This record gives sequence, structure tokens and C-alpha cells, in this order.
Amino acid sequence: MAIAAPLTHRLRRNRQTEAIRSLVQETRLYPSDLIHPFFLLEGFEKEPIASMPGVDRLPLPLLLRQAEHLHAQGIPAIALFPAIDKALKTERGDEAWNSDGLIPQAIRSIKRELPSLCIIADVALDPYTSHGHDGIASPKGEILNDETLECLCRMALTLAEAGADFVAPSDMMDGRVGSIRKALDSAGFTKTGILSYSVKYASSLYAPFRDALRSRLAFGDKKTYQMNPANRREALLEAHLDEGEGADILMVKPATLYLDVIAKLREESHKPIAAYHVSGEYAMVMAAHQKGYLNAEKVFHETLLSIKRAGADMIFTYAGPIVLPLL
Ligand code: PBG
Repeated sequence: MAIAAPLTHRLRRNRQTEAIRSLVQETRLYPSDLIHPFFLLEGFEKEPIASMPGVDRLPLPLLLRQAEHLHAQGIPAIALFPAIDKALKTERGDEAWNSDGLIPQAIRSIKRELPSLCIIADVALDPYTSHGHDGIASPKGEILNDETLECLCRMALTLAEAGADFVAPSDMMDGRVGSIRKALDSAGFTKTGILSYSVKYASSLYAPFRDALRSRLAFGDKKTYQMNPANRREALLEAHLDEGEGADILMVKPATLYLDVIAKLREESHKPIAAYHVSGEYAMVMAAHQKGYLNAEKVFHETLLSIKRAGADMIFTYAGPIVLPLL
């Protein structure tokens, strides 16, 4: 006697061989989806970052070599973050708009050596402020919105002038996309794009990044400007405002804990969407890998594929060098 009734639908038929699985695969990950973040330091010696195995703070010559290697393997873009000397940090973060600073100099050399590589330059004061906040602080420790906008505009202009393809405001001040767009346009930088960290949550997953930049908060937290992880409607409002203010690309950050937000934003917006697979998302997997609990290469591949499946067009990730052999 037959145990099961004849089945009309056998979904396993489409999973029988690698060839068939490949035909029905809905989402694919390509090197061209990835943006590689770099931590840049002054000098000639690289420094390992303890919480991010496999990632170093790099001096410019080594950064150039790695960027060239990744670009040759199909990675189209890099993002730059400076590990600034403590001596250069001030209350207002003045080094952020020094046109001879670490990042503007790096942008000029990268553009000279690797002209086809897209450069995304972060706009936020935290690598440059002595207190580690993304904006100007009042004596009482309040992060001042409109005063900060002025600094962000000066910073964005410095980065555009150096040759950045995109400036990427990651500070979460209100109105910064509109202000930066206006400042860029008035100075003739109509072709410089804005990749906005539109939906940036106040996440505990940024800890290794702050290590990497040697950026420590002298007081408080970032909850008065970064978003509450509990909120999704507010994320759509943030993204909608940035779109209206002229953002060219909208970003959600972090990525894996916020796949629902990426998916929802994908339904609501026709702009390209980026996701930032952040330092803590990298560090957790690497720590487990080092203990032999899982395989980082496979977990990262699955993770990045899931971020794409949720709706991201591009992903900032430190895992590029690890997953590239699988792509
Ligand atoms: C700072 C900035 C942060 C990250 C990117 N830009 C940290 C923060 O907001 O404290 C985090 C990236 C990562 O964790 O990989 N404006």
C-alpha cells in the first residue's frame, strides 16, 4: 500500500543538482556588490585591531596595495575612516576640514593611482573630536544640531575638493543632507554624490569600530541622534526626508539585525539602498570562527546574501577578502 498520496508539487525537484539549483537561484552575491571600509593611519607601520581579526589600521602605501588587489578582484568601491592622532583631536574636530589632513591626502593619492576605484568618504566629526561625539557639544554635553551642520558642510567640501566620488554623512544630524547638497552645489561640486547613512541605529555593534578609530565617548551615548533600535516607521521617515533633501543612495546600518527595515525601505523607495554590515557583525563571527564553532567564510557568504535578499543593492563589509574566493 502506498504510504503517501501522489504528489503534484515536489519542490525538491528544483533542488536536485547544482545546475538546477543555480537556474532557480533568486539572489546572487557579486564582488561588485561590496564596498570595503579601510582604517587609515599616519606613518608606515600597520597596526592590528584586536577586536577585528584580519583587519588592520593601514598606512597609505599598504592601503593602496590592498585597495588595488581588491579592485582587481571586482570590488568597485572603498570607504575611508581615519585613525587620528590624539594630539589632533579638538572639541570642535577642526582637523575634519583640514585639506592637508590624512583623508584628503589619501583621496588624492588613491585617485591618482587607482582612478577607476570609487571613493566614499565619511562625513562625521567623531574621529576628530576629543569627546568622540559626531557633533559639536554644548558645555552641558548636548550635541548641537545646527552648529554641527556648518562643520559637516566644511568637511564635505574638503572631501569633495580632494576628489571623493561620494560623501557619506554618518552623523545623524537633522537636515544634514540638504545642507551638504546645497554647499556642494554652490561650490560647483554638482557631480559629487551623497550616500546618506539615513537609518543609523544607536547600536552596540559599533564597539570594534570605535576601537579601530581610537574614538572613545568622553560622556553620554549617541542616543540623542542615532535611532532607537525599536523603531521602524521612524526609519522610513528618516529615509524619506533624506530622499527629499537630495540623497543619491540611502543606507541602513547595522544590517543583519535590521533586515526587516531594509526590506520595508526597498518597498517604499526607488533609490539605491546600501546596508552596512558593521564591525560588531564581523567581530562576532570571527571570534566564533577562531574558536572553531563555525566557518567564517560560509557564514559571511550566507549573511551577505541575506542582506541582498532583503533588498540591499550594495553592502559595506569588512568580510570582502574572506568571501571573495567563494564568488
Ligand atoms: C561614525 C561611524 C560609526 C560607524 C561608521 N561611522 C560609529 C558610530 O557611529 O559610533 C560604525 C561602523 C562599524 O561599526 O563598522 N560616525
